[in-house]
Amino acid sequence: MSNYHIKHLEEYYQVYRKSVRNPENFWEEIAEEHFMWRKKWDNVLSWDFKKPEVKWFEGAKLNITENCIDRHLYTRGDKTAIIFEPNSPDEQAQHITYRELHERVCRFANVLKEKGVAKGDRVCIYLPMIPELAISVLACARIGAIHSVVFAGFSSTALATRINDSDCKIVITSDGSYRGSKTIDLKGIVDEALEDCEGVANVLVVNRINSVINMKEGRDHWLQPLLDEAYHDCEPEIMDAEDPLFILYTSGSTGKPKGMVHTTAGYMVYTAYTFKNVFQYREQDVYWCTADIGWITGHSYIVYGPLCNGATTVMFEGVPSYPDFGRFWEIVEKHKVNQFYTAPTAIRALAKEGVEHLEKHDLSSLKVLGTVGEPINEEAWHWYDDNVGKKKSPIVDTWWQTETGGIMITPIAFATPTKPTYATLPFIGIQPALMDEHGQEIKGNQVDGRLCIKFPWPSMARTIWGNHQRYKDTYFSAYDNMYFTGDGALRDEVGYYRITGRVDDVIIVSGHNLGTAPIEDAINEHPAVAESAIVGFPHDIKGNALYGYVTLKETGEYRNHDNLRKEINQIITEQIGPIAKLDKIQFTDGLPKTRSGKIMRRILRKIACNETDQLGDTSTLLNPEVVQDIIDNVK
Ligand code: PRX
Repeated sequence: MSNYHIKHLEEYYQVYRKSVRNPENFWEEIAEEHFMWRKKWDNVLSWDFKKPEVKWFEGAKLNITENCIDRHLYTRGDKTAIIFEPNSPDEQAQHITYRELHERVCRFANVLKEKGVAKGDRVCIYLPMIPELAISVLACARIGAIHSVVFAGFSSTALATRINDSDCKIVITSDGSYRGSKTIDLKGIVDEALEDCEGVANVLVVNRINSVINMKEGRDHWLQPLLDEAYHDCEPEIMDAEDPLFILYTSGSTGKPKGMVHTTAGYMVYTAYTFKNVFQYREQDVYWCTADIGWITGHSYIVYGPLCNGATTVMFEGVPSYPDFGRFWEIVEKHKVNQFYTAPTAIRALAKEGVEHLEKHDLSSLKVLGTVGEPINEEAWHWYDDNVGKKKSPIVDTWWQTETGGIMITPIAFATPTKPTYATLPFIGIQPALMDEHGQEIKGNQVDGRLCIKFPWPSMARTIWGNHQRYKDTYFSAYDNMYFTGDGALRDEVGYYRITGRVDDVIIVSGHNLGTAPIEDAINEHPAVAESAIVGFPHDIKGNALYGYVTLKETGEYRNHDNLRKEINQIITEQIGPIAKLDKIQFTDGLPKTRSGKIMRRILRKIACNETDQLGDTSTLLNPEVVQDIIDNVK
């Protein structure tokens, strides 16, 4: 039995038991057999959740890019590593082989060195989804520089905060980016940000849109001429297992963004191992994750996990709606995608458009579908299963976080029977616990509580850049000796987990704890509803009452909003109980979302509580304009 590749449920349980009975032995075996080390570790694991301090494979020496690229050159040199699908379907896709990737990463690494970047330096990458984004990430890793990718949809203020927080000395960007029918002046945003960033000495600029931009003498350099001159090979920097690999910022509900620090060896082992198993990747498969590399999903499951397995990974520059809502399916057909990994927000947006777009394309290559980022409501799950997967492709609903580095609770495709809205079982090595409000673990099944993890796993973030105390306070102080995820979850009669949403979003109505996800799920089942979000607002008798914001599909059938309100409450009553009925329902054209597609309930809560003077910064939202619209139309 190979522990590296799990193929059925029985095997999952066997390997799982082994992995929690003796985690050190288990991970040692995986690390030993499937990765390339310059020197093996002295100690597999040391940990103390009180400090907190976690170290995996201490004493080992490696370079992650040797694992992602060099070791494939002998057997997979001519295999496509990255398929780049440009924003416009009229522009030709690029197929970058492992050999070409090696050369491009080496050249880029040499350019960075030439600009004075050394091991341990922080490099900010602010690029659209073009090959240079993956290549620059790997080039940093090649020379031991710590990359900090900032999603290229963030504003100049958000960019400046992130550059300064981790003291980046160089920024990699492009003249501009394509987004559907629009172009975005990325370099202009960088220039604005850099007015507040004194530490940045150099800016490398990729020419993506051929625009005329301002180049600051001495600071800004076009990348291509430097690459052309650079040497095509670059010796990898030999790193310690626990050397930082990257920083990635995640915004909490309050305070400034947290720079989560991920280190080298454990992150590599865990992302590679989860990728292989969750998606059941096979040598000839083409895998596509639609996330942006600006998020953790892109780091772990577009770049590192797939490349470590010698996979072919698709990078898509554009948006699902351009030139029309059939674009995703056109790409699946064109590149014969086998594994497709996206987010519930994208699924709902596509479902809203109906199935005509799907029907025009051959999706028969698809074997596995994935979802990540927020709870997937039942209707969206079925739509995905019926229309995209044609009921034959398992849906892996993968629960994890920027902080966890890799997938934590998930079905393993073809092994774990799926259940709509359930992330199902803990991945190998993951030991979840549900806790009550008094700090006690809730054992047994058919229970719900706050989701914690009891034991370290290799890819967990090690700290928050420059603020270890905040790391401790946020994740290790709520419960003794546990990592607290911030999410609520329930465990059903067979031990399957369902994530019920962020604990901060739990609403207590008449003494009942109500998670947002199950109620939204019920609302979304109404045929007229596209999306919904519920929040609590103070109520004299119940403590809190529920306020629902609902967007409608463009069916036109349900013009009478009062009837619609009744019907929605009827569904909630049937599925959850009258306790969860909404006191107020506001129909709106959109819901405020973060740039990664999560609904910002915090803002909706303020509006529901009539505290619109305390909305905070709404400028980093995907769609700040909907906020005013909602305020103007409060019911
Ligand atoms: O609340 C959970 C939700 O997204 C949070 C993590 O967000 P982020 O750090 O941006 O990482 C997203 C990509 C890994 C979690 O605390 N979440 C993520 N995946 C799921 C989910 N909620 C329910 N089901 C999921 N599959």
